[in-house]
Amino acid sequence: MRTGNHILRAFVLLATHESFSAASNLIYRRRIVSPPDISSSYDYVIAGGGLAGLVIASRLSEDPAVTVLVLEAGKSGDEVAAGINAPAGAYYSSIVGTDYDWKYTTVPQPNLNNRTIYWPRGKILGGSSAMNAMYLVRPTVMEVDAWKDIISSGDGDTAAQNWGWDKVYENMKKSENFVPPNQELLTYVNIDYEAESYGSGGPMQVSYPAFMIGINANWTSALDRAGCAPNTNPNNGTSLGGYIAPSSINPTNWTRSYSRSAYIDSLPPRDNLHILPESTVVRFLLSNQPDSSGKQIATGVEFASNAESPRMTVGVRKEVILAGGPLGSPKMLQLSGVGPKDVLEAAKVNVSVELPGVGQNLQDHLTAGVTWATPQETAGNIHASGSEFSQTPEFLSFINDAVAFVNISTLFNGPALEFQQQIKDARDESSRTLVASQYPEVVEGYKAIYDTIADKFLPDVPQLELLMSLISPSQVSIQAAMQHPYSVGRTYINSSDPFVPVVIDPQYYSHFADMTIMRQGVRFVRSVGAAYGALFGEEIAPGPGVQTDEQLEQWLRDSAANTQYHPTGSCAMLPKEKGGVVDADLLVYGLANVRVADSSVFPFEFAAHLASATYAVAEQASTLIKQKSYNVPEEVVTGGSNKGSDANRMMALPGIVHLLAFGLTSAMVTAWLV
Ligand SMILES: Cc1cc2nc3c(=O)[nH]c(=O)nc-3n(C[C@H](O)[C@H](O)[C@H](O)COP(=O)(O)OP(=O)(O)OC[C@H]3O[C@@H](n4cnc5c(N)ncnc54)[C@H](O)[C@@H]3O)c2cc1C
Ligand SMILES: *[C@@H]1O[C@H](CO)[C@@H](O)[C@H](O)[C@H]1NC(C)=O
Ligand SMILES: *[C@@H]1O[C@H](CO)[C@@H](O)[C@H](O)[C@H]1NC(C)=O
Ligand SMILES: *[C@@H]1O[C@H](CO)[C@@H](O)[C@H](O)[C@H]1NC(C)=O
Ligand SMILES: *[C@@H]1O[C@H](CO)[C@@H](O)[C@H](O)[C@H]1NC(C)=O
Ligand SMILES: *[C@@H]1O[C@H](CO)[C@@H](O)[C@H](O)[C@H]1NC(C)=O
Ligand SMILES: *[C@@H]1O[C@H](CO)[C@@H](O)[C@H](O)[C@H]1NC(C)=O
Ligand SMILES: *[C@@H]1O[C@H](CO)[C@@H](O)[C@H](O)[C@H]1NC(C)=O
Repeated sequence: MRTGNHILRAFVLLATHESFSAASNLIYRRRIVSPPDISSSYDYVIAGGGLAGLVIASRLSEDPAVTVLVLEAGKSGDEVAAGINAPAGAYYSSIVGTDYDWKYTTVPQPNLNNRTIYWPRGKILGGSSAMNAMYLVRPTVMEVDAWKDIISSGDGDTAAQNWGWDKVYENMKKSENFVPPNQELLTYVNIDYEAESYGSGGPMQVSYPAFMIGINANWTSALDRAGCAPNTNPNNGTSLGGYIAPSSINPTNWTRSYSRSAYIDSLPPRDNLHILPESTVVRFLLSNQPDSSGKQIATGVEFASNAESPRMTVGVRKEVILAGGPLGSPKMLQLSGVGPKDVLEAAKVNVSVELPGVGQNLQDHLTAGVTWATPQETAGNIHASGSEFSQTPEFLSFINDAVAFVNISTLFNGPALEFQQQIKDARDESSRTLVASQYPEVVEGYKAIYDTIADKFLPDVPQLELLMSLISPSQVSIQAAMQHPYSVGRTYINSSDPFVPVVIDPQYYSHFADMTIMRQGVRFVRSVGAAYGALFGEEIAPGPGVQTDEQLEQWLRDSAANTQYHPTGSCAMLPKEKGGVVDADLLVYGLANVRVADSSVFPFEFAAHLASATYAVAEQASTLIKQKSYNVPEEVVTGGSNKGSDANRMMALPGIVHLLAFGLTSAMVTAWLV
């Protein structure tokens, strides 16, 4: 058997034959432009420059005839670029917990012994794609088709044309450029892939790290021995089984490929695209009169650089696209007077459009890890060594990638028909007692989703994800993450002040089935650990003393349970009468020209990380908007507060526009050529 050290040497040698540019040697060309200003109106204003927002900005501005403004609450991130660009930076120089993170916490969770759970979210250009763990993992055909079915009234309607597996798969691929692992890596670790299952020529680079850790070589065989067979063609619509997942990684220089680097930095200068960091969207402004179809028209967007600075407004000539993510987008809707009446009234926000579903239906992926000591080398050992190799771009390309998706039969040693029946029997009572907001529409949505996951997904779609982590020295950890929660919560504003954080209540473990799946998941993880044999040492957590159902559940409540950071559902694409927020064109019900296009629109969780599907939503949103978008009547477009500028003039600013500070009537703008 070759040790990790052997393969490392092989890669160091290999590296000398190629030209790598170290992430830390990144040079940005910078140009300061003055006099500063932004235009007083734009065709499209995108609220949130995260994963989805920058994809849409890039696609819409392909048409030189339209003007696009992105307002991003966070900073550009240029100050911390080296840490973000290095894949291993996700662990060793992460922006989690810094000013580039919203640093949310949930309210105390009664079923987690009143613990609060930390919810990092990117507050930076690129959003959470600048801090995520880069796993490139897709949902299954069945899940994506069920999403279409739940909004579709039958074949051939808009829902069926815009969504469903074929369309979503096409859009996921459109975002990608796949680069296969090199031969050395392939012979060392059993990486199965079919290149046809990925895109080619798209902006986001998809590949594998420069080297592998020995323990990875035993992943699929250990899983197989534990009862979960390998998946030899992951990401083509079947996720069941164990595999080494690709990552959003650029193998030409071993950097993170995220929405900013892929979709914005790669562009030649575009005069018609302005991106303003440090600009928090407060709300959009609605015209006094609805349009002829009775829908309200967004005419402008209000924003501010911080709580103390003056509010600015910018006019909207076509559409507002909300891309603030599953916490930011419902917040912006609620602050604009679009949402559940009880929430808006309590927060003293005037109701413009009553839409009970905004912020409801919030779901997340819970996870808990079993940790063992190991005599094998881990990435953590290499990192801690401070060796020359540990400083190279090749080592810094390290990212965890061993995953598995496990079905209910594997977790219960059988089809678990009795468990499924218990879940079905609890459906009506759950809909009465567990839905945070008892608006009839929201309850109907809960039932529709419940039926989908209990009837369709439980028997036929993976229920648990396993992820192996090798980032600590002399330790290995395998996470068990529940994929289809029956516990559903909500997020809401409790103040009209946009700088007050939203309330987040996922109601973790409010439904018994979630706890049962997690408990069985921890047991299955242990059997994988056992299948690793002598490669793993003693169990460190939860430790051999934790065995019975009661002990495992207590451990999960008291000390385990983290999140995979996959909140979704808070602006669900569902029929309005099922608590939906957006329709199949991503348009907000009751509004003529406001869309939500980000990871908040999935009606339910997938057995997958959310980035790949979110790229697809953003690509599809761009296509839909290019095909048909609203024209705000000239006379109602908001004038804009920076009166000094000519309404139709775009500044001749190439690349990224960086807003440093606001004056009272004009803005100080720096353009960065990257
Ligand atoms: C720590 C972590 C690890 C993850 N790991 C993975 C992984 O390995 N693989 C994977 O597929 N997925 C992963 N995810 C999930 C994935 O990154 C997200 O699902 C995805 O980024 C969501 O995209 P989005 O556009 O909806 O939101 P985001 O990318 O979060 O973007 C939202 C943007 O809107 C901005 N914003 C919010 N409110 C306002 C406002 N009022 N005004 C202006 N701007 C605003 C935010 O600052 C942010 O930039 C991870 C997430 C986290 C947090
Ligand atoms: C990595 O390479 C890509 C081209 O493939 C380039 O656009 C990007 O700027 C590079 N990133 C760094 C940090 O050098
Ligand atoms: C959690 O907090 C609530 C409200 O303060 C309290 O009623 C409950 O007893 C607490 N639960 C636990 C397990 O401490
Ligand atoms: C681990 O994988 C390597 C490489 O495939 C193999 O040689 C070795 O026998 C495996 N070890 C165990 C304990 O499975
Ligand atoms: C469940 O998973 C096991 C192991 O991967 C597989 O053999 C079995 O066919 C799966 N069952 C279903 C119903 O998909
Ligand atoms: C994915 O690939 C597997 C194996 O090659 C194949 O059986 C399956 O039909 C494919 N699924 C889709 C949706 O193409
Ligand atoms: C809410 O509506 C009232 C009555 O129309 C109005 O006076 C007030 O200014 C509005 N508040 C906001 C924040 O728009
Ligand atoms: C809003 O909710 C937070 C908890 O998220 C709480 O600390 C705060 O006191 C609440 N504010 C109001 C005005 O209710």
